[in-house]
Amino acid sequence: MDLVIHLADEAATLRAGAAVAEIALPGAWIALEGPLGAGKTTLARGIARGLGLDEEVPVTSPTFALVQEYETRPRFVHGDLYRLTHPSELEPLGLLEALDEGAVMALEWALPFRAELGEPELLLRLSHHEEGGRGLVVEGRGRERFVVALRAAVARDPSL
Ligand SMILES: Nc1ncnc2c1ncn2[C@@H]1O[C@H](COP(=O)(O)OP(=O)(O)OP(=O)(O)O)[C@@H](O)[C@H]1O
Ligand SMILES: [Mg+2]
Repeated sequence: MDLVIHLADEAATLRAGAAVAEIALPGAWIALEGPLGAGKTTLARGIARGLGLDEEVPVTSPTFALVQEYETRPRFVHGDLYRLTHPSELEPLGLLEALDEGAVMALEWALPFRAELGEPELLLRLSHHEEGGRGLVVEGRGRERFVVALRAAVARDPSL
């Protein structure tokens, strides 16, 4: 059975994003899945902050821009492919080039394009918990390293 990590509040989702930033390999992508409002963009914000993005730079939903880049090291690319209907629409976004160049990339609603993008390093599935907060199920080859990084983050800050 899958392990469901409970994220009690927004701060916990941001902390999970920071754990992703610790283990994410340049050139690999992270799939952020879950229904509307599940916390995908919040997780992406946590990744960006974990990669060193200044608190003053907002990380918001790239629903209309589709892709937003941040000048972190490695570079962070955040995409939302919700409005994409056909794989041919991927190419102009330059996602594969960004991966080739060593970006860390987090994509919302990207699983329909798995064939084009390759397997994600991490597949993070968020869901609403009835009692509040969110559930997080982690899949992908980076899973073990992510869980270790998240546990270390919780040990540093038990309020998670
Ligand atoms: N663990 C959590 N517990 C409670 N609320 C949370 C948690 N994580 C994030 N949120 C809140 O959920 C709301 C929606 O978050 P967010 O915009 O990140 O979702 P999303 O999955 O990107 O939505 P969309 O599908 O519209 O892109 C925000 O108000 C955010 O603060
Ligand atoms: Mg979003």
